Amino acid sequence: MLNILHTIKEVRSQIKEWKNEGFTIGLVPTMGYLHEGHQSLIKRAVEENDKVVVSIFVNPMQFAPTEDLESYPRDLKKDSKLCDETGADLIFNPDPEEMYTKGFCSFVDMNGPTDELCGKSRPIHFRGVCTIVNKLFNIVTPDKAYFGQKDAQQLAVIKRMVTDLNIPIEIVGCPIIREKDGLAKSSRNTYLNKKEREAALILSKTIFMAEKLVNDGLTDADKLKDIMKKNIETEPLAKIDYVEAVNFDDISVTDTISDNTLVAIAVYIGKTRLIDNFLIKRK
Ligand code: PAF
Repeated sequence: MLNILHTIKEVRSQIKEWKNEGFTIGLVPTMGYLHEGHQSLIKRAVEENDKVVVSIFVNPMQFAPTEDLESYPRDLKKDSKLCDETGADLIFNPDPEEMYTKGFCSFVDMNGPTDELCGKSRPIHFRGVCTIVNKLFNIVTPDKAYFGQKDAQQLAVIKRMVTDLNIPIEIVGCPIIREKDGLAKSSRNTYLNKKEREAALILSKTIFMAEKLVNDGLTDADKLKDIMKKNIETEPLAKIDYVEAVNFDDISVTDTISDNTLVAIAVYIGKTRLIDNFLIKRK
């Protein structure tokens, strides 16, 4: 049966009990307002672990003052239902004061993989992500943790962090889940009005087109980015943040599309910033 806990002390006590019984633990870190993308991570975690913890915490540290912290959608009741139906055992839903106690001043930061893509336009974002994910890892001490490939840079950053800091947790990346018409699932899709929702399809259409061009043999990254940019610009409501091709391991910009290249875009549709990508699998 699904349990919802709000304090670190309670979670630690539950984890201790499970570990004493020899159970393996999977963690799915989220900011809530769960959709089928999160559900696919929880499903995978349920398949691969004895117990599954879903953390639901809108982390203030990864939002710049100009971003959407206040308006970020929240619905714990709906989230609990989805977690319960999907087979999760525990939701950890702390208050900001529980996670960031008075005097908090320690951070986990990274150079390199956080410099390009979203790190460029959201300079404090990954410091907030690395810090909170570390805290969650220390609280839950899972065997495996699950992240979606939609946030591909985040996935690469977390993998790097776990390697660099010798964190004994396996990081599992899971495929992008899309709406029927192609739009990548995101909690931020709820910000879009009807016109913007239609316009947002320019992201997935551009990604699918680029993937086909690469499958057909295009390897010149500049050419590919140029074609993609021109395609996005055909949509009047779209404003490009970035269109980039990087090596997926270290998120360094590449001029040749090859194995393990991540082609990623971020586009504003009205005020909503959406991301999408595809990865050329390592052979
Ligand atoms: O991907 C997210 O929802 C967040 O960045 C994460 C990993 C839960 C950290 O707050």
